[in-house]
Formats: sequence, structure tokens, C-alpha cells
Amino acid sequence: MHAIGIDIGGTKIAGAVVDDLGAMVRSERVPTPAGDPASLEDAVVAMIRSLSAEHEITAVGVAAAGFIDAAQSTVYYAPNINWRNEPFREKLEARVGTTVVVDNDANAAGWAEFRFGAGRMVSDMAMLTIGTGVGGAIVAGDRLFRGGFGAGAELGHLRVVPDGLACGCGQRGCLEQYGSGRALLRMANEIADAGGIGQGLARVRDEHGSLDGRSVGALIEVEDPGAVAALRQLGHWLGQAAASLSAVLDPQRFVFGGGVAVAGELLLGPVREAYLEHLPARGYHPEPDFVIAELENDAGVVGAADLARVWVAEHA
Ligand code: BGC
Ligand code: NA
Ligand code: ZN
Repeated sequence: MHAIGIDIGGTKIAGAVVDDLGAMVRSERVPTPAGDPASLEDAVVAMIRSLSAEHEITAVGVAAAGFIDAAQSTVYYAPNINWRNEPFREKLEARVGTTVVVDNDANAAGWAEFRFGAGRMVSDMAMLTIGTGVGGAIVAGDRLFRGGFGAGAELGHLRVVPDGLACGCGQRGCLEQYGSGRALLRMANEIADAGGIGQGLARVRDEHGSLDGRSVGALIEVEDPGAVAALRQLGHWLGQAAASLSAVLDPQRFVFGGGVAVAGELLLGPVREAYLEHLPARGYHPEPDFVIAELENDAGVVGAADLARVWVAEHA
């Protein structure tokens, strides 16, 4: 049976018709409309209609970057989108006439990796998605962990610095402010300001007017010392957080996804180092694997579709 998965990102909305084995049969993408939630909703509805034109669909799974309720219906809060108690499922179902299930974007990506990608071989896995924000997914005993109110596994809002930098969630010192793509740019700018190994970053910043994900990514790829140092700082924060997560979840595998994860070993090296340094019972605790996600850009779409299928099976 086919399901539709839609992944609402900060810059684009991606969608696909996905089969039971996680293969995308047909896919589409459009830029995320700027501004009000209504135009976002219109874009999602248009995509669902167009994707369902030639396929019979069991359900639609929509992945969104926010705190979602246990009924997988309402977005309680989205730190980087203007949604507060948004009854997204109800609104979409009324317009498309198919079962719609709303899920957290990182949960969807993590579930796809667990079923079809980097988490296939384990029963317990934690995933961190490193993009504009930091998303989290937890698979515990082969099940996706949601928590009692649905909004668990918000790993980006673990506090890593007491009274640290302000976060979009309304708190301070969250991992998201030290381990996201935005944090990487802040660190890169600081290194550029300091001169020395920051000269490469400073030169690119002068040429382009500012640093962005693409230009810092290109410098990381050629192993520019300043850009690699910024990535190292980011990796250290993520590794420390992973050590604390081990105390709670004890996963066999940590999976890193999102745009920044294309840096591969250059990111994982510092993550592993900080993890081992901060691990409770270090030296006596089995070492989990640290790996990069396998499904790249498709994880959210594939996972959202599969979670919608799971929801339908469990509520039949
Ligand atoms: C949000 C999460 C989301 C993550 C990645 C965070 O700011 O709180 O719900 O999964 O960003 O998009
Ligand atoms: Na999550
Ligand atoms: Zn936060």
C-alpha cells in the first residue's frame, strides 16, 4: 500500500508517494512559502492533491518542526515557525479527505533511518538532526519514543549551558544554540573575527558579505583550518550531549543527520572524542557507534509516510 509523506522544512516542502519498503514512487518539492501559516497549509494541500492524483493512498504523514501532541494532530509549538496550538491535522483532513497524521520532523527522519537506513541493525537508537535547529528522535526497544504528551525526544532543547544563549523555545542554554547549523555559523564568524586560522573564513566573508551554510560547508570540504575548528566546537557540544543521553537511553547507535552531517568524519571525530571524555562510567561503558544518516534528504518524507501507515494499522 502507498502512503504520502510530506516534510515541511524551513526552505522547502518535500513530498512523495512511498511504498511499504520505503521506496519513493513519485516525489515533488516546492519552496516553503514565507509568512503566514495559511499559505503554508495551502502549499501542503496542493502537494497532497497532486501526489494522490495517480495513486491509491492509505494515509498522509506530515512532518513538521515542532512539538506535536500525543494524538499526532496538533502542533503545540514550533520554535522556528509561527505555530502555536495549530490543529494542523484537522485542517488538512477537512480539505483533502484522507487520513492525515502529523509528526515531528526529526521523529520522522529517525524512524526512516531505523526502518530503512543507518539504524536497521539496532533496537535502541538516538538520532540528532543538525540543521537550522537541532531535532531529536529516540527508538527504544524497537519503538519510536514519544513520551506521555507526544512531545518527547525534543533533544535540541536539552539544556547544556545554565543561563546560556536564548533559544526559540523560550528558554536558555539549549543544545540547539550550540549544536545547530546556525550555531556553526556563529562559531565560524567568531573564528573569522579572531584572525589567525580564521583568515580563510574572513576572506570568504569579505567576498560574499556574510558567511552562510553553503560557503562554510565548502570551506569544511577543503579542510580550511578555521572552518574545521568551528565544526570541532560544534561536535564537542553534540558529543557532550550524547554522553548525557547515554545515561538516560543507552542506545547502541547515535545517528547524525541534517545538512551539517554531510561533513561526515570531520564532525563525528570530535563528537566521539567529547562523548568518551564526558561519558558517565567512562572506560567501563560499552561504546555505541556514531554514524551519519543514510537517507539524507529523503528521510523525513519516507519516515512520515511510514509513520502514517503505522498509525492506520494501529487504529484500524
Ligand atoms: C524543534 C523540533 C525540530 C527541530 C528540527 C527544533 O527547534 O523544537 O521540533 O524537530 O527543531 O527541525
Ligand atoms: Na523529536
Ligand atoms: Zn530550546
